[in-house]
Amino acid sequence: MIARRVSVLGSTGSVGSSTLDLMEQAQAAGSAAFEVEALTGGANIARLAEQARRWRPRIAVTADPARLNELRDALAGTGVEAAAGPDAIVEAAVRPADWIMASIVGAAGLRSAWAAAGTGATLALANKESLVCCGPALIERVKRSGGRLIPVDSEHSAIFQVFPAGAPERVSKLVLTASGGPFRTLPRAAMTRITPEQAVAHPNWSMGAKISVDSATMANKGLELIEAAYLFDMPGERVDVVVHPESIIHSLVEYVDGSTLAQMGAPDMRTPIACALSWPDRLAWPAPKLDLAALGRLTFEAPDEDRFPALRLAREALAAGGIAPIVFNAANEVAALAFLDRRLGFLNIAAVVADTLEKATGAGASCGSDDACEAALAVDAQARRIAGDVIASLNIAA
Ligand SMILES: NC(=O)c1ccc[n+]([C@@H]2O[C@H](COP(=O)([O-])OP(=O)(O)OC[C@H]3O[C@@H](n4cnc5c(N)ncnc54)[C@H](OP(=O)(O)O)[C@@H]3O)[C@@H](O)[C@H]2O)c1
Repeated sequence: MIARRVSVLGSTGSVGSSTLDLMEQAQAAGSAAFEVEALTGGANIARLAEQARRWRPRIAVTADPARLNELRDALAGTGVEAAAGPDAIVEAAVRPADWIMASIVGAAGLRSAWAAAGTGATLALANKESLVCCGPALIERVKRSGGRLIPVDSEHSAIFQVFPAGAPERVSKLVLTASGGPFRTLPRAAMTRITPEQAVAHPNWSMGAKISVDSATMANKGLELIEAAYLFDMPGERVDVVVHPESIIHSLVEYVDGSTLAQMGAPDMRTPIACALSWPDRLAWPAPKLDLAALGRLTFEAPDEDRFPALRLAREALAAGGIAPIVFNAANEVAALAFLDRRLGFLNIAAVVADTLEKATGAGASCGSDDACEAALAVDAQARRIAGDVIASLNIAA
């Protein structure tokens, strides 16, 4: 039986809700017992309160200080403490827990992931943006605290499961799979007309709006490429991307002897979350299973970096090092949100990232340093201002 005291940062989102659903199902199956220390959300007070009523954490926190009374009212009579604001989320992240899910979306998740990384708990990291921005410093912080970092992204979970721990010299290459998103076969000329509704309708995965747009532009695969390079200490040239529209093989590790190991599973985030929740054990729950005969065949193709330039930009940002990955992440986040707000065309998302990367200047966050998170956030703020100016200039020109 797996027993854990857990905190879920970003519990109201897609990954956060999947985490609680998985916990519910594993408990019902009798394979696990969970206590919840903290749950945090953003604007969705109703869902946060519903989750808190079910799990009775010690504390429930909303990011929005203006919604504290609403949360308090919704939790009346439960004994669950209510709190609000970004600092309260960081405080929730360092409360005593042995497993912490970091699933806040975007750079807003940096400070709490960084705080959780220093607690000595197992850090289940869905917030890839914090790894892209703090990189090796975040990994080092987890190590120094005596904790463990387990990736939640399905691709990195796959690699984590088939990577030879402690023997990286046996590996020649990592191969990340990509679904190709909803516009995999759409001609470039038609991409100018893509709407936010079309972009968030992912063919295989049910995810939050921002990562769905990232998936459609392939900026998500770019962020994952940087994430993989940091997590597995692999130069960018040895991280390949292959498009695999069925999303059944979640990624692969090629060994020096020519053997390639892959991890497979149904495209359901609860499976990589289960892996992170129980590693090195395995959590029994009513998981969706693969029926290979019914699937019939799996297909693969090379990514098209002309139609999806964000992937190339991420590779270049990783190679450039310093502040470039942080700038890539910030500009992409600003541009993806502007697209969702209908202030920017789909094809301009990558154009904004490219322009911001050219204009941003400064020194990178020093790896391993205690202030890497704050240094990354300063770069992030500067890059956001530049990306905002680039978008404004595009809109004036339009
Ligand atoms: N979804 C997936 O399948 C998937 C797979 C792999 C990795 N990831 C990564 O996991 C992370 C979460 O993705 P998601 O799809 O679960 O996103 P999501 O559905 O948009 O959920 C984001 C969570 O963050 C909270 N949040 C938003 N803004 C916040 C802020 N300023 N401060 C504090 N909390 C805030 C949201 O609260 P409210 O909803 O209450 O506003 C929600 O709980 C991302 O980094 C993503 O790249 C996701």
